[in-house]
Amino acid sequence: MGKSKSLQILLLLALSAAANAATTILPRPNSCDIHEGQFVFTPGIPVIYAPGLEALAEYITEYIPLRQIDDRTWTAGQSLRLLIDDTLGAEAYRLEVTPQGVRVTGGDYGGVFNGLQTLLQLLPPEAYTKHATLPMTVPACRIVDEPRFHYRGMMLDVARTWMDADRVKRHIDLMSHLKINKLHLHLSDDEGWRLEIKSHPELTEIGAWRGGDSPVWPVYGKWDEKYGGFYTQEQMRDLIHYAGVRNVEIIPEFDLPAHSRNIARVHPEILCNYTPDLEVTAGYDYRSVWCAAREENYRLLADILGEVADLFPSEYIHIGGDEVDMTQWSRCPDCQALKSREGLADGHAIEQYFLGRVNRILEANGKRAAVWNEAIRGGNLPRNARVHGWKDVDACLEATAQGYRTVVMPGAYFYFDMRQSPHEEGHDWAAIFDVRKTYSFDFGKCGFTPAQVANVFGVEGAFWSEAYVSHEPEKPDYLDYMTFPRICALAEIGWSEGVREWPEFYRRLKGYYDAMGAQGIRFRLMPPRVTYRNGLLSASVEDGSRLTYTEDDSEEKPYTGPIRTQTPELYLFRSRYQSGRSPKVGTPAYYRTLQPAVKISTSMGESKEFPYVRAEEYRGIARTARTCRKGDWIRYDFEEPFTCREIAVRTGNLQLPRFIFTTGYVELSTDGETFERAGELAKGGWMLRHPERPIRAIRIVSTCEGNGCPYVTVQSPVIK
Ligand code: ACM
Ligand code: ZN
Repeated sequence: MGKSKSLQILLLLALSAAANAATTILPRPNSCDIHEGQFVFTPGIPVIYAPGLEALAEYITEYIPLRQIDDRTWTAGQSLRLLIDDTLGAEAYRLEVTPQGVRVTGGDYGGVFNGLQTLLQLLPPEAYTKHATLPMTVPACRIVDEPRFHYRGMMLDVARTWMDADRVKRHIDLMSHLKINKLHLHLSDDEGWRLEIKSHPELTEIGAWRGGDSPVWPVYGKWDEKYGGFYTQEQMRDLIHYAGVRNVEIIPEFDLPAHSRNIARVHPEILCNYTPDLEVTAGYDYRSVWCAAREENYRLLADILGEVADLFPSEYIHIGGDEVDMTQWSRCPDCQALKSREGLADGHAIEQYFLGRVNRILEANGKRAAVWNEAIRGGNLPRNARVHGWKDVDACLEATAQGYRTVVMPGAYFYFDMRQSPHEEGHDWAAIFDVRKTYSFDFGKCGFTPAQVANVFGVEGAFWSEAYVSHEPEKPDYLDYMTFPRICALAEIGWSEGVREWPEFYRRLKGYYDAMGAQGIRFRLMPPRVTYRNGLLSASVEDGSRLTYTEDDSEEKPYTGPIRTQTPELYLFRSRYQSGRSPKVGTPAYYRTLQPAVKISTSMGESKEFPYVRAEEYRGIARTARTCRKGDWIRYDFEEPFTCREIAVRTGNLQLPRFIFTTGYVELSTDGETFERAGELAKGGWMLRHPERPIRAIRIVSTCEGNGCPYVTVQSPVIK
């Protein structure tokens, strides 16, 4: 081959690699032209920054080792320049790469930050490790880009599961690489109060902890420890600054008037004026709603929210408003007197009265209220309140139709605590969905008119953390797996205009896998395809990941080709790519369950609404009449003794370790009369493979005094 020919091929290869790099940008930019050539960052090249951009010069040198020079002292030469051009819109940017240099020009600070994120995606993925060395090459290009919405949010529930400042900073890093610019922090809930309030130190001294000697009971796991934590105001100030450098605004939420069992354990006087039934709850006051009629409550909230308003620069403070158990107000003579006095029609009107009072406190502190969608019922919420539509698409349609600026986040697309396929971990009450479903969200198809879309303030993903506490929250694994890559789809819906085609997005998403690997994200891969035909079991992937399998729960082995077997039900497959992994997948035979006739009984009596005989109708869940005490039992009596590959029994809701026997053991019987101890409960459940003898009955025995809830849920056994 001639010299010029091979050069041509090399050039073509370089160009196509460059074109590839540019067309994998996620979220997709508005316009992107790839040119011939490239710029090479070599040692000594400076980053030159305009006034106000010093923090970004510092930021980018963590990823690309450059010298920082401010605009006034620079003369000429190859460089990375950070510039402002205020004819560009807010958060908009222009990225120009030529062999002579790189210019990132933003409409404002956020625009330059966003341009730098695009630049990072054009560099080799090692840049994300912060340990990459020069030279680094970036393809020549001109990208002009701006966001569709100025609110592109992610919510972290740090109340149910505590996430310390370093873990939140890591999440800010990961989300800001995708140009997500709002972090909604859910700072209070029944299980924890997470921000120091200097005028009321007891809120964190007591309320930041649950379990052990804390008056706050554990509800979601870590049963045997005093568990929790909180941010001091100093730490929060640092976190706000850290986020700000990364173009992320932190919006605090204090969930009112419900979800307040925690603060009510510290200040029981905030509750309504009646004596609760402590018999069914083993002595625990389960009330969770602030009394709307008690004037001192508004004074306490003024103290708290005054400090919150001083601390957070964000214009909006989220004050909750979701899931109020209004029976607590209807049983309270004071709330009923308030209702008559103020002419409030119903519980929703009482909620609006309460939130209206809280809104006035915020206004007095120069802030506005953000609320969950339920808070608009009743019609009196001020129009300047921002509504977060979480419940479903209809709730978002209603809020936007009523003229509220709405953050759209229906659970069935944007609640990243939902499980991603039927046999994975996570909740399922909103939907079971993966990144493809999130990406399919479309305002038009969901019925938003142009006028309603005009009221959409942005989109937000949410990670509620009830289940996280029982998934080793000290490691980022579960949080990463649940949020990535669904958050990538969220980022694109928030940022990019234009047609959405799954294959095109999936191609760019796969292009981002190396970047996620370099960031150490434990992201989820799409499940492998598994088939069984003519005695051959085979698996395949379409993302270049490495396949492995297990046989009857054995060690994971590399998958090298179809497996000849007569027992496909024993095999599970998964794939791995750097720090990413797929869920485990089997053939339908793996999931097939046996349904022997069974009678369920317990010592705790049964709920009238959810009796054991109808357990199947409630997805296998029935309820007892009261909580558990030591020695309480649940029994499963089978009509015929049977053998199986695997049997599992469980108290509580799947993935939600609430309503369980927090501790207990399991006994087996071959005759239905004599029982032998077979094992301890873990997270309320127990599983046995290949029982040695036929099973006639199972008994689960509680060794705990209560579970922090008024009842235990009882599930049907799962037998394979
Ligand atoms: C919510 O999920 N209750 C806001
Ligand atoms: Zn009351």
